[in-house]
Amino acid sequence: MRLSPVPVSDSVHVSVMPDEIVHWVSEIDPKTIVDGTYGGGGHSDLLLKKLPDDDVRIFGLDRDPEVSERVDSQPHDKRLTVFLGSYEATPKAMAAMDADSIDAMVLDLGLSSDQLADRSRGFSYTEDGPLDLRFDPENGHPAYDWLAWKKEEEIANAIYQFGEERYSRRIAREIIARRRKEDPVKTVDQLVDVCRRCVPRSKNHDIHPATRTFQALRIVVNDELGILTRTLAAAPDWLRPGGRMVVISFHSLEDRIVKNAFRDDERWNILTKKPLRPTDAEVAANPRARSAKLRVAERV
Ligand SMILES: C[S@@+](CC[C@H](N)C(=O)[O-])C[C@H]1O[C@@H](n2cnc3c(N)ncnc32)[C@H](O)[C@@H]1O
Repeated sequence: MRLSPVPVSDSVHVSVMPDEIVHWVSEIDPKTIVDGTYGGGGHSDLLLKKLPDDDVRIFGLDRDPEVSERVDSQPHDKRLTVFLGSYEATPKAMAAMDADSIDAMVLDLGLSSDQLADRSRGFSYTEDGPLDLRFDPENGHPAYDWLAWKKEEEIANAIYQFGEERYSRRIAREIIARRRKEDPVKTVDQLVDVCRRCVPRSKNHDIHPATRTFQALRIVVNDELGILTRTLAAAPDWLRPGGRMVVISFHSLEDRIVKNAFRDDERWNILTKKPLRPTDAEVAANPRARSAKLRVAERV
């Protein structure tokens, strides 16, 4: 039976690689599952449908307060508990739920379509709004603050390292020039304008000049790679032997971290020698899935 990726509640997010997530998680007949990036809840919902037993529990985590507010405001499966917080804080959720270990953990990295559609968050370069880029707008600092404080070299390095943007130095120079003119970059449109001036159009116009810079700032502001690295190093202590870690990543920096963490730690047994990719049919139906890579490892 193919399970369809039904968006949960009023979320517009369509879950990526739903059949694969359900397959790799349900195969071990899990009772306690952590959905570390709950988002629209699509993956959790499919897992709860596939695993009808009363003693199955899912702990969802998301850094975005709107996610837990949405879940709290609607009736939901009593086997699901959603926490506001980073997936790095899984031990806190386990302690709150009296769980000594977990059977499976799912991470579906990046941002949801709900966040992309909300112009107040600054995630989409096609919609003007404040250049915030935080998953949790109640903590930390927005991207426009980061750009207002950092040295030119630090901005350039971040855009190069986390966006793999070869025109990072030009972009950083332009950001600093605007700061000197007392017209600092504070909005999405202002940053898009800077990128358009600094990044030549790609030959087949397939990548927007601001794509890499937005990715870099989002990664920095949310410490995305640090959290992923620390979590993959700690997760073998959370999973029971034979438990599974299932990760979907959307760009090469994330995928490299997952691949190396699984390869370099003898507590992991890799179950996907090569990353799994979405089918052509899924990509046609949900273009957001096109860059997804799924890797699975088992706790030895
Ligand atoms: C791609 S969406 C997940 C979609 C979800 N799997 C579904 O099927 O609806 C990614 C979610 O992860 C959340 N997120 C990003 N970093 C996080 C972190 N460190 N801890 C918890 N949630 C995080 C984002 O706020 C976003 O809601």
